[in-house]
Amino acid sequence: MSASSHFKTVLVTGGAGYIGSHTCVELLQAGYQVVVVDNLVNAREEALRRVAELTGRETLFHPVDLVDEAALDQVFSRHSIDAVIHFAALKAVGESVAKPLEYYHNNMTGTINLYRVMAAHGVYQLVYSSSATVYGDPRNTPPYREDMPLASTSPYGQSKVMAEQIMMDMTVADKRWNIASLRYFNPVGAHPSGRIGEDPAGIPNNLMPYISQVDPRRHRRAGLYPCGGPGHRSPQGSGVAGPGAQGLCRLQPGRRQGLQRAGRGQGL
Ligand SMILES: NC(=O)c1ccc[n+]([C@@H]2O[C@H](COP(=O)([O-])OP(=O)(O)OC[C@H]3O[C@@H](n4cnc5c(N)ncnc54)[C@H](O)[C@@H]3O)[C@@H](O)[C@H]2O)c1
Repeated sequence: MSASSHFKTVLVTGGAGYIGSHTCVELLQAGYQVVVVDNLVNAREEALRRVAELTGRETLFHPVDLVDEAALDQVFSRHSIDAVIHFAALKAVGESVAKPLEYYHNNMTGTINLYRVMAAHGVYQLVYSSSATVYGDPRNTPPYREDMPLASTSPYGQSKVMAEQIMMDMTVADKRWNIASLRYFNPVGAHPSGRIGEDPAGIPNNLMPYISQVDPRRHRRAGLYPCGGPGHRSPQGSGVAGPGAQGLCRLQPGRRQGLQRAGRGQGL
């Protein structure tokens, strides 16, 4: 897909984060102008400097919190945005159980603000970063299908289920919305250059960044259990990676296709 086909300027929320920064590289290399909104709660601006180093092009960065609707509105006033890829969220499952209000406020208020501002500025093309956690209904067994009932057991997962419901309702109420929702499992890996990767603030909640930080200066040891908890073993007796572990670079073309589908009116 090239920038000339449908959209020229894409707003990436959470663009300084792990998946967002890799997506910015892909978009810039494909010729898009990229506007980033990120409050840096779990990222560093350095990631965007490295995105520029890798692509030879700058993102237009706004250190804005999605919860601040007025500030978000100003970003849309300053740029002629054609489409949005929405990554910004708090994403630690365990922390969300301990801090449900913080998670619902950040993820739901931020998401609703974003969609309200998009509609106010006539922007209806959206790719949403959902999660495979929405298949958490116990009645669901693999292989998962898109039409399975959605449920989740944590406030984080519930925020994804609710966001999906909100988007369904939006598309029923207003046919101008073109939305693709991507329900992926935990991606792992980094850009081949090694210049960007998963580098969360604080103690990582995902497996790979935790392992990569195990050294005497950061985390002395990793307390890891095989997928499924203690006692769960592969036929070889070792721990197994969950079925969701997938290379990040495999995800990126899918995300561009999501944008393409949204552009053709084939969302949700
Ligand atoms: N990494 C995974 O395993 C995984 C799996 C499935 C879905 N997802 C979803 O993909 C998206 C991106 O995940 P990631 O792994 O890149 O996470 P990440 O934490 O690296 O990136 C999220 C970014 O959003 C920003 N952010 C959070 N709240 C914000 C707010 N209110 N306003 C502005 N910026 C805010 C953070 O600073 C961060 O840069 C998230 O929505 C996550 O739920 C991630």
